[in-house]
Amino acid sequence: MAEIDTKAFEQDLIDRGYSRRQMGKVAALLGAGAAALRVTGAMAQQAAKPVEGAVRIGANECWTGPFPVAAEAAFKLVQEGNRYEPNDEHAKLFAAVAAVEGIPADRITAWPGSSDPLSRVAVAYASPTRGIVTGNPAYEAIWRTGDWLGAKVTKVPLTKDYAHDVKAMLAADPNAGVYYICSPNNPTGTMTPLADIQWLADNKPKDAILVVDEAYIHWFDGPNAAKMAASRDDVLILRTFSKLFGMAGMRLGLTFASPAIMEKMMRYDGGQVTAMLPMTAVACGTVSVAQADLIKARRAEMVANREMAIAHLRKKGIKVIPGSQANMFMVDWGKPAKAMQAAILAEKVQIGRNWPIWPNVSRVSVGSADEMKAFCDAIDKVWKA
Ligand SMILES: Cc1ncc(COP(=O)(O)O)c(C=O)c1O
Repeated sequence: MAEIDTKAFEQDLIDRGYSRRQMGKVAALLGAGAAALRVTGAMAQQAAKPVEGAVRIGANECWTGPFPVAAEAAFKLVQEGNRYEPNDEHAKLFAAVAAVEGIPADRITAWPGSSDPLSRVAVAYASPTRGIVTGNPAYEAIWRTGDWLGAKVTKVPLTKDYAHDVKAMLAADPNAGVYYICSPNNPTGTMTPLADIQWLADNKPKDAILVVDEAYIHWFDGPNAAKMAASRDDVLILRTFSKLFGMAGMRLGLTFASPAIMEKMMRYDGGQVTAMLPMTAVACGTVSVAQADLIKARRAEMVANREMAIAHLRKKGIKVIPGSQANMFMVDWGKPAKAMQAAILAEKVQIGRNWPIWPNVSRVSVGSADEMKAFCDAIDKVWKA
């Protein structure tokens, strides 16, 4: 993903006859909005391009696609693809999500995945004078947006239980514009207790925003932070259909937030992105969220596959970071993770990347039972203590 060359971008506009004043408008639209997305786009989370013929357990995707009943709903919309919005599909999605989450429909907004609002909230609330605070390791997309904005990005190590250390996060930058919590956390899969998330919401500066990224929450059988967005004006919850719902390539995400927050986040494009979503994805998501039994079954399947692989590693004396509640876990090889990743790839299994703070630790995504068996077989071949 190329870094944006702001000078070249400005020069191009001048060469094309834009005045400085007009340039400001274009920069607001493309520079602050779209360009931020280009440096933090949806593919950025992938450690590498998929390797042909390899088992793909490196990008935290689901091992299978949408629930069949949801895919059917999407196909129906393919056949009605001549209409921008055949039958109030957005409203149906918001009603379905509101019913599941117990929050008002007017606090729910849909996006082509959650990468866009994740970048956008940083653009709206961070700046060269108001930084961004995250855990470490954490999902790095917002680090890149912060760097691009020229905002200070402060990365605070997780606690010994691999939760976000909310008190240390506030102390590290008491006047930040954005505090970002990912729960379950990517890459550790670990939860931050709701009481800690609430504490940070109550103690951060009033005009800062707390972003709670719940991309992986459907894998966790327990409470979530959604309701915080129902009553507050300074909390944004991010959700995605790219994980448990198996829709990464279809692109659908959600934010839960007050209308005032949304207005701020859409000032660069007037809501164009959220108003023009593919109806196939919207219909697929609407049916997906209501499938309580199928969600439970897919979660149980993932947990069984994850625990089988973790038990296999531990039996060999390989350390696994404890406490994952999501479709990923971290393996501490006790030696450079990049070399282990390459050795496992040579056995046609593509695992995830490592984070600079933990150079000996790889993230492994949870695939199907067969895929996790292939991972265990690869470990048997390459592991030397
Ligand atoms: C924590 C987290 N947030 C957001 C995203 C963005 O995903 P998407 O744009 O597909 O919703 C990802 C993707 O891996 C993620 O891990």
